[in-house]
Amino acid sequence: MDTSTVMISEEQIRNMVTDVASKINSDYGSEEELIVIGILTGSYVFTADLVRELNMPITIDFMQVSSYEGQNSTGLLKIKKDLGTDIEGKNVLIVEDIIDTGNTLKKLKEMLLGRNPKSLKICTAFDKPSRRVNDLKPDYNGIVIPDEFIVGYGLDYDGKYRNFKDIRIVR
Ligand code: IMP
Ligand code: MG
Repeated sequence: MDTSTVMISEEQIRNMVTDVASKINSDYGSEEELIVIGILTGSYVFTADLVRELNMPITIDFMQVSSYEGQNSTGLLKIKKDLGTDIEGKNVLIVEDIIDTGNTLKKLKEMLLGRNPKSLKICTAFDKPSRRVNDLKPDYNGIVIPDEFIVGYGLDYDGKYRNFKDIRIVR
C-alpha cells in the first residue's frame, strides 16, 4: 500500500479546525449547552481537536454506526453503539470524519430527529460531494476533497493509518 502522497498538511488541518470552530462559536453563542456526538471511529481525532476550540458548555458522546444496503435500495442503519445521553430538547452537533455517499449520515440524521432535539446539525472534517447519492449537506464543512481514498487524522484503510498527522492518498 502506498501512502506517500500528502493531500492535506498538518497546518491546513489546523486552519480548517479553527475556521469551523469559529463558525460554530458565532452561530451558537457561548451560553447554551451543545451536545457533540462524534461518530466512531474515524471522527475521534477531529472531535478532540474541535471541542477544544469551542466556547459553549459541551457534553460529548459517541455513536458507532454503519450503513449497509439491505433488500431495499434505501439501505439500513446498524447501530453498534448508541448514545448514553438524552438529546430531547438539546442542541446537537454530529461530528463526522468524512462524508462520502451520504448514506450513513442521512439515515442517522433521520433517526436522531425522531428523538426530538431542539436542533440537529452536521459537521464534517472532509467532504467528497462528487460521490453523494442523496441530498445530504453538512452544515459545517471543513475541506472539500476530490474522489480519492484518504487516510490519516483518524481516517483509516482497513483499520490502519489513523495516527498520521496529515491526510494522505491511498494508492
Ligand atoms: P458514506 O455513508 O458513504 O457517506 O460513508 C462515510 C464513511 O465511509 C465515513 O465515515 C468513513 O468511515 C468511510 N469513508 C468514506 N470515504 C473514506 C475515505 O476516503 N477514507 C477513509 N474512510 C472513508
Ligand atoms: Mg466513519
